[in-house]
Amino acid sequence: MTLLALETSCDETSAAVVRDGKILSNVVSSQVALHAEYGGVVPELAAREHLKNLLPVTQSALREAGVSIAELDAVAATQGPGLPTALVVGFKAAQAVAFALHKPFVGINHHEAHLYSPWIAGDTMTADFSKLQPNVALIVSGGHTLLVLVKSALEHRVLGGTIDDAAGECFDKTGKLMGLPYPAGPVIDRLAEQGNPAAFDFPRPLLHDANDDFSFSGLKTSVRYFIRDHPTLLDDRQKVCDLCASVQAAIVEVLVRKTVRAAKRQGVRCVTASGGVTSNRALRRELEKACHKNGLTLRLAEKSLCTDNAAMIGILAGRKLLAPAPLPSLDEEINPGWALA
Ligand code: KG4
Ligand code: ZN
Repeated sequence: MTLLALETSCDETSAAVVRDGKILSNVVSSQVALHAEYGGVVPELAAREHLKNLLPVTQSALREAGVSIAELDAVAATQGPGLPTALVVGFKAAQAVAFALHKPFVGINHHEAHLYSPWIAGDTMTADFSKLQPNVALIVSGGHTLLVLVKSALEHRVLGGTIDDAAGECFDKTGKLMGLPYPAGPVIDRLAEQGNPAAFDFPRPLLHDANDDFSFSGLKTSVRYFIRDHPTLLDDRQKVCDLCASVQAAIVEVLVRKTVRAAKRQGVRCVTASGGVTSNRALRRELEKACHKNGLTLRLAEKSLCTDNAAMIGILAGRKLLAPAPLPSLDEEINPGWALA
């Protein structure tokens, strides 16, 4: 089965062609530079950019895959969660293609798709996916921080999530306080490599709570007060690196310890991680160490698939179309607040 998938839930315009669990193309056009001057994603601008980029991105994906539009067997798009004005662009375009071709259309939950990206190796969905279930998945991005128990293919239960800021948001907002450009996550990652993670002590929110929830707004506030009380610190490059390393260490420790604890409590033997923050080198290192120590297999999404992309939407859509369920109707609308159950 050959599928075209579109993803426009936030600030990446992406189109992919997927055939039988294999990614034939995955074109991603990022709007990060456009939103940088505003210090965050501006929904109206994101929507206009998606409108401008969607057709060329889709044409590139088809060309790269060597597939003509007439060869498509189905079309998929992200239905939610996401920014309403952004989601609607890819979702309605995909429905229009499906309608014109008289082919099935599937609306996909963006977070459910993230659950699948760690299982894509190179361009193919690995068989390990079914062997290593159940597993605990960490989805960690600019908008979300979720722990999910994946019981079997297409069957999962959310264990916990952030009660305020997401981990990526915490990277971006604390970076802004340090005067770093948006998105600050990758910059903090880079500067932290030259800093001392034990230089400054920041809180590890909810680390010792029994639940699987996260909270990062208190950490952000303590960084704000710390900078207010040490105003000359930002003039010293080494101290900025130390600050980056210390903030990153606090975020990473909470993510790693709570993920491993959830995995042990659920009695699973595998942990996965995906979403933009999964690109973070310290997070990848510390997850590796903690999983190794606790006898857990770790599957991290490849760096190219950590950020939002249509390939993960297509891979999941392909599996959904194989499942014996009624096909969704073309009358469906976007679902911006679609929380994973
Ligand atoms: O998944 P994503 O591309 O978009 C959504 O938010 O859905 O994630 C973007 C987030 C931003 O907050 C960005 O700062 C963060 O991921 N991020 C990182 C790194 N690369 C991206 N955070 C820490 N270290 C990184 N290397
Ligand atoms: Zn995402």
